[in-house]
Amino acid sequence: MQRDKTTRLQTRPVAWMLGLACAFCAFQGVLLATLPQKAEETAAPAGKNRNANRSDPKRVMGITKSDCKKCHPSEVTHWMKTVHSQSSELRLYKFEGNTEKYAKALGVTQDQLLADSTCATCHATKAIVNNVTKVIASVSCESCHGAAGGEDGWLNRHQSYHASMPIPRAQETAEHREQRIKAIDAAGMIRSDNIYEQAKSCYGCHIIGEEKLVAAGHKAASAFEFVSWSSGEVRHNFFVDKTKNADAPTLWAERTGSNVENRRRVKFVVGTLVKLEMALRHRAKAKNPAVIPQFSAVAAASSGQLAQINGLAGTPETQAAVVLATPLLGMLFAPPQPTDAKTFGDIADKFAEQARKFAKTHDGSKLKGLDALIKLRAPHFSQQYKTKNP
Ligand code: HEC
Ligand code: HEC
Ligand code: HEC
Ligand code: HEC
Repeated sequence: MQRDKTTRLQTRPVAWMLGLACAFCAFQGVLLATLPQKAEETAAPAGKNRNANRSDPKRVMGITKSDCKKCHPSEVTHWMKTVHSQSSELRLYKFEGNTEKYAKALGVTQDQLLADSTCATCHATKAIVNNVTKVIASVSCESCHGAAGGEDGWLNRHQSYHASMPIPRAQETAEHREQRIKAIDAAGMIRSDNIYEQAKSCYGCHIIGEEKLVAAGHKAASAFEFVSWSSGEVRHNFFVDKTKNADAPTLWAERTGSNVENRRRVKFVVGTLVKLEMALRHRAKAKNPAVIPQFSAVAAASSGQLAQINGLAGTPETQAAVVLATPLLGMLFAPPQPTDAKTFGDIADKFAEQARKFAKTHDGSKLKGLDALIKLRAPHFSQQYKTKNP
């Protein structure tokens, strides 16, 4: 039954012309599962298709099978040094210590840890192998760029500059590029152009919505800030020059003519809004009075940062967000109410709307006022990374 899709994919002419037979081995007999972004379950309405694709368990391909390394060697080499590439070994392979404690709290057995567990959703990449969902890697490319496979997946389309011939990037027509980008975005690819989706993907794992897990002692959130956490060990902007890890995505810089200062400013504001959005989504669902303050604290801190941003470089979107955030402080730490899901869910949707609008409308060039604040956020590296790469 899975063969059907495989056959159809293999008959696509473009890829054969490009000599990508290998990328297709990927599809053979294996349909892979994705990492469902926890947050997508309650995600805002816009971009529905994309979100649906991204969490479709049949679409994750895996680095080896999709051969990312063939065309992105420096990105893969760099990724292997990051703690993301080790998280499943660190947290899921040994049933002991905190791993055992958290797993038991959720009723997850040792076998399930490396299969279809909630834990593997954040600490690993899950795929369907021989009809069974299991861990095929730690946090990997598709965890952040969206599942690549499936019938209309982005993998083949994203690197094809012409319908039937292999031509260099510089020769792609503007029209073809526009169509291609539209198609891969619709297929759920998360790219550098879409800062909102990128931030949301990070926060999908870095704020932990599962109440029972948090009640068992698992952190409710990383000390995550989007600019600093994406510009340290995670940064891998090698596309145009494979020998140089640029400060900003090189394809994006080429397409927009913009620079890293502008990008940081937009990331800073969008990251703040998304953090608030995501913390509220978890606050909306929370019922345990011991856990609620942990989500509320994340939302409150982010709300404070938003006010600072708006004071230094106000825009219509940050202004609207401040108006939404102001009454929150009085509500966030109140005892749980039956109306919480709706109240906080609706406000989260509105933050999402402002964040998307902001990302679309601003290129950062008018937000210099934020630089002093951004400078305080140094590129972040994990302890493991620093020890291994002094
Ligand atoms: C056959 C070569 C090839 C393979 C295999 C390949 N890519 Fe790419 N990738 C490219 C090319 C070419 C581009 C540049 C596209 C452009 O000019 O817009 C690219 C661009 C990208 C971008 C940046 C897109 C943007 O607009 O910012 C990401 C992210 C990416 N690839 C991820 C992956 C991942 C993840 C895999 C494996 C699942 C993969 N690629 C496999 C060739 C490939
Ligand atoms: C929503 C995403 C998410 C889920 C679900 C999740 N984790 Fe985590 N986990 C994280 C993140 C992010 C960190 C790193 C937090 C930090 O320090 O910034 C982490 C850290 C850890 C750590 C190291 C810190 C500690 O508390 O000892 C362990 C162990 C761990 N997780 C185990 C588990 C287990 C077992 C499960 C399932 C029962 C699980 N996690 C589910 C995201 C998640
Ligand atoms: C933790 C999430 C994450 C993981 C894992 C990840 N990426 Fe990325 N990737 C990003 C982000 C975020 C950017 C944009 C970076 C920025 O703003 O500086 C990016 C940018 C890129 C670009 C554009 C670079 C350029 O110069 O234009 C490519 C290509 C890419 N990633 C490929 C990959 C491949 C291949 C893998 C797997 C080896 C991978 N990524 C793993 C988050 C991730
Ligand atoms: C699929 C879930 C997932 C996604 C998506 C994700 N991360 Fe992570 N990240 C983790 C987990 C889990 C850890 C903790 C690894 C461990 O210790 O086991 C982590 C650790 C990190 C660390 C190391 C922090 C430290 O001090 O140990 C950085 C930096 C980081 N992530 C940045 C990012 C950025 C930036 C993004 C988005 C572009 C992102 N992550 C997206 C799951 C994820």
